[in-house]
Amino acid sequence: MSKIVCIISSKSGVGRTTTTLNLGAAISKQGNKVLLVDMCWEANMTLHFNIDSSTNTADLLTKRSRFEDIVTTVKDGLDILPSGGSEMFNALELISNGKNREHVLNYALKAHARCYDYILINTSPILNLLADNALYAADYYMIVQQPEVYAYKSMDRLNKYIKFISSETGLKNGGVVITRFNEKQCSNLHRHIYEVVRDDPSNKIFSTTIRTNIEVVEAATCNLSVIDYAPASTGAKDYMQLGLEVLDRFK
Ligand SMILES: Nc1ncnc2c1ncn2[C@@H]1O[C@H](COP(=O)(O)OP(=O)(O)O)[C@@H](O)[C@H]1O
Ligand SMILES: [Mg+2]
Repeated sequence: MSKIVCIISSKSGVGRTTTTLNLGAAISKQGNKVLLVDMCWEANMTLHFNIDSSTNTADLLTKRSRFEDIVTTVKDGLDILPSGGSEMFNALELISNGKNREHVLNYALKAHARCYDYILINTSPILNLLADNALYAADYYMIVQQPEVYAYKSMDRLNKYIKFISSETGLKNGGVVITRFNEKQCSNLHRHIYEVVRDDPSNKIFSTTIRTNIEVVEAATCNLSVIDYAPASTGAKDYMQLGLEVLDRFK
């Protein structure tokens, strides 16, 4: 049965999109069929792979297009539902008046979920009805966290938000992954915040940490995951390791 994971944080620029697409690539490299769902209006995951978004998740939510007409193959074992960019706001407005408005994505994915081992949903940091739809559709949420002060402080707000949704659904805490980690930066601040997050067991921190790595950034210029762009880089190794840890944790 497929596992649906919402990759979330309430702070921008922490590495959420980078993690969604590279984790998806890592899991698919292990022989799993993966679907990436871009629910973020910034559409960075869609842009990363240079996907045609003339039909997109906004059309899926508003039932203007069918799943089959939107889904696009990035590479063997890795599909994507591209974001509609600013159209996501129109979709948000349209669905906000409907019945079961938090479940629109859930219903749209349901019939197709069995075709995939993993579905990873990329969200925007804005906690609105689009985020609700991603969380209501998911079995697990995974928080992406950069080890810096504002990002750390945003976790409390996010956890309170998710707690309410978890109480209504079967949504489970998948854990926190630390990204953009640089031990030498900020006079040990990264190490300190890492330890604070790690020492709270409710965070269920992943033992894999994604280090700051230039190949992760460069990979976007070639429309590839870092795993395909630079398989020997620390970025590729970290994401492959995280993929194995996720497969083990969610099995
Ligand atoms: N491990 C990393 N090393 C270096 N740069 C990174 C890493 N992860 C993400 N980035 C860069 O940080 C910026 C923000 O990442 P992104 O995934 O877009 O964050 P978010 O989706 O949370 O807004 C991007 O320019 C991205 O290339
Ligand atoms: Mg993003």
